[in-house]
Amino acid sequence: MKTAEVRSAFLEYFRQQGHTIVPSSSLVPADDPTLLFTNAGMNQFKDAFLGREDRGYTRAVSAQRCVRAGGKHNDLENVGYTARHHTFFEMLGNFSFGDYFKKEAIHYAWEFLTSQDWLGLDKERLWVTVYETDEEAYRIWNQKIGVPEARIVCIGDEDDVPYKSDNFWAMGDTGPCGPCTEVFYDHGPEVEGGPPGSPEEDGDRYIEIWNVVFMQFNRTADGQMHNLPSPSVDTGMGLERITAVLQGVHSNYEIDLFQDLLAAVSDVLGGVDTSQASVRVIADHIRSCAFLISDGVMPSNEGRGFVLRRIIRRAARHGNKLGATGAFFHKLVAPLESLMGEAYPELQKARPQIEKILLQEEQQFARTLEKGLRLLEDDISRLENNEIPGETVFTLYDTYGFPVDLTNDIARERGLTLDLEGYEKAMEAQRERARAASKFGVDYNAGLSLSGHTEFVGYNNFHGKGEVRAVLVDGEQKQATVGDHAVVILDQTPFYAEAGGQVGDTGVLSWAGGRFEVEDTRKEDGHHLHIGRVVAGEVEPGMSVDAEVNGERREKTALNHSATHLLHAALREVLGEHVAQKGSLVNAERLRFDFSHFEAVTPEEMARIEDRVNEQVRANTGVETRVTDMETAKSMGAMALFGEKYGDTVRVLSMGTDGFSIELCGGTHVHRTGDIGLCRIVAETGISSGVRRIEALTGDAALAHDRSVENQLNRICGLVKGSHENVVERVEGLSERNRSMEKEIERLKAKLASSAGSDLASSAVDVNGIKVVAADMQGADRKALMETADQLRNKLGTAVILLGAVEDGKVTLVAGVTKDLTGTLKAGDLMKSVAPKVDGKGGGRPDMAQGGGSDPDGLPDAIAAVEGWVRDNSGA
Ligand code: ALA
Repeated sequence: MKTAEVRSAFLEYFRQQGHTIVPSSSLVPADDPTLLFTNAGMNQFKDAFLGREDRGYTRAVSAQRCVRAGGKHNDLENVGYTARHHTFFEMLGNFSFGDYFKKEAIHYAWEFLTSQDWLGLDKERLWVTVYETDEEAYRIWNQKIGVPEARIVCIGDEDDVPYKSDNFWAMGDTGPCGPCTEVFYDHGPEVEGGPPGSPEEDGDRYIEIWNVVFMQFNRTADGQMHNLPSPSVDTGMGLERITAVLQGVHSNYEIDLFQDLLAAVSDVLGGVDTSQASVRVIADHIRSCAFLISDGVMPSNEGRGFVLRRIIRRAARHGNKLGATGAFFHKLVAPLESLMGEAYPELQKARPQIEKILLQEEQQFARTLEKGLRLLEDDISRLENNEIPGETVFTLYDTYGFPVDLTNDIARERGLTLDLEGYEKAMEAQRERARAASKFGVDYNAGLSLSGHTEFVGYNNFHGKGEVRAVLVDGEQKQATVGDHAVVILDQTPFYAEAGGQVGDTGVLSWAGGRFEVEDTRKEDGHHLHIGRVVAGEVEPGMSVDAEVNGERREKTALNHSATHLLHAALREVLGEHVAQKGSLVNAERLRFDFSHFEAVTPEEMARIEDRVNEQVRANTGVETRVTDMETAKSMGAMALFGEKYGDTVRVLSMGTDGFSIELCGGTHVHRTGDIGLCRIVAETGISSGVRRIEALTGDAALAHDRSVENQLNRICGLVKGSHENVVERVEGLSERNRSMEKEIERLKAKLASSAGSDLASSAVDVNGIKVVAADMQGADRKALMETADQLRNKLGTAVILLGAVEDGKVTLVAGVTKDLTGTLKAGDLMKSVAPKVDGKGGGRPDMAQGGGSDPDGLPDAIAAVEGWVRDNSGA
């Protein structure tokens, strides 16, 4: 069976068992700050397990793209060196949300694996593990399925830490979790390794192929386990592993898909041997990198982007090891697309973009590598012992993106070691700084283990009533009194919580004798957090309060939010479909929209974009909201954004003529596009490679902006005595005149200098047959002094000259000596002798020297000293 066939068989088997086939979600987890990348099939169902979301079905099946690099489940360093670790892989999974439980889940897994109609695996080769205390699962395997005791292994907690076990699965430090049972495949005695639970379990003989998790708990940040509303099932089977079993190979890299990919890597590297670990690393990494970029992640220096950058660099480095001389990694996108594009059309669409980004990263890394290596060489040459300091290792890592293992490789080649302890310390200090700078000063979630969620009733209302569910002061649940900064949570609220780029509402909560000023509203675990200060009375759970949103601020924000949708659509229309939202900020003052695009937007394009938006504003069509299921939304052509949370019920926002903009959005908007009044784009800049930022204003603010521009124009008209019609000509004329006046001044200065030269020549004094000129050429600049000194030397034949001038409180000095005298009298010496009189210094060639000083009052003395100097030094 080919990889693609295994994928379809799995989906089909569970479809026949009443499961809804759900498409893979993005690698960027939807609205889930606890997770770096989607790392399991269950991620997109987190809220369904927690009972916070009704998806309209209770059985689901999916083939989910996953990345395990960075975060809790991190396999990066193992990749390429083991038979089955990947940064990117596909997870096949079936799910029950309070529907079936252990008996059915085990039965389905067994039937799919062993039935001749499906995978038909040899039963004798399958082993299972169960959580030590899970007698029920043990009984089902042993008595109902008939797996002999000898092949069932019970696994308990490691080091007696509760739930720390291979057979207890958790998505992260918080969230849904539960005991699990795993199915292992025995690759046979010719492969090294022991059964699960034995000391040799890490070998390649017994390979875990399927993990069936009995989801029962939600772990909160305080470490407590809360029962889920109803027992559920989450399973995961690595597509690559099960395919390896079916194709009778021991390593995932030997399956059809990887064989083709390894061949492609060898191809772009000029035919290298595909059995090398580095080739496997590259084949693995191109999958995670291509999919991450197609899911909207951009290489950067923080968060997800940083992990992506590390993976790209790791691939580039392994390429170097294999002898790559230039950028090669981006050339693997095409072969990957032909292997996986059919199952993942998003990959096909994003291919040109992925290639460009990878190429850019490769080129940038080549430059960084060079710089970093130089720094390292430099440090190595100054080493007093054999250890590279931790600070250096850290700087290389932090600033130059050198993975520590790369620095280590280089150190090893020179017989040096790394100060890893110092590196860790520097790293920890960095983490500390990051923690301190993190956006929440207080961990609002710390004391919050509330069930349920806040109902938002503010789409059409600025006021409402709510019952206080919780009050947090300094992260602790307690009563808040006057002066306290606190967080108030209500059962329902008209306050919009920051999401989708739109800022949270501000306003007031009030009750008899009390008032809470809301400075911001955010969302955490389905609850709206009203963050602010008690200005009168006390507030505690159980109280009923009036909630009043600052309506003017909300309305202005709505203009900007709706304009953002129109702008997004116009950008795609004018610049192309590759434009994807990379970030947005919408508040009462302005809107900011970041999007992928490879070059600056030209003024012509910008004008077209702005025109399209304003045409839609003037068309004044009604903004329509529809709550529907994802499938319908997609068929309506709705644009979904990366990293946003979409359940099965989504809110579709349509505005403009002929479906101009259709987006999934939970934000608050205008009623008709005409409410926006006017939209003006006020800035367009690049913020990182391939990402542009537009800032725009709407309504009153757009008008005020235009008015202020006009006022400035009027002032300019006044200054140049022109009108709007001829002001440009006037200013052009002015600057033209300015330029010719500058030229004229230059000419006049030169003329002045030459006539000054003639005057000065006649004032020369004779000292021992040498003509001496020393003068203050008031107001002249250095150039004029030099020219005059030159002229005097030519005119006088045998002469010593010192010219000075004061400009802006500084003295400039020039000394000249004719060639026939430089044997005895040197201009440089003259300068050294007189410059101190103006509190300065100077020097130069024997025939011409320059100097300067800061004391204009000394200039007459300096001039007066020249005659004496000539007399004393001319030797007569
Ligand atoms: N969520 C479980 C896992 O990832 C099935 O192993």
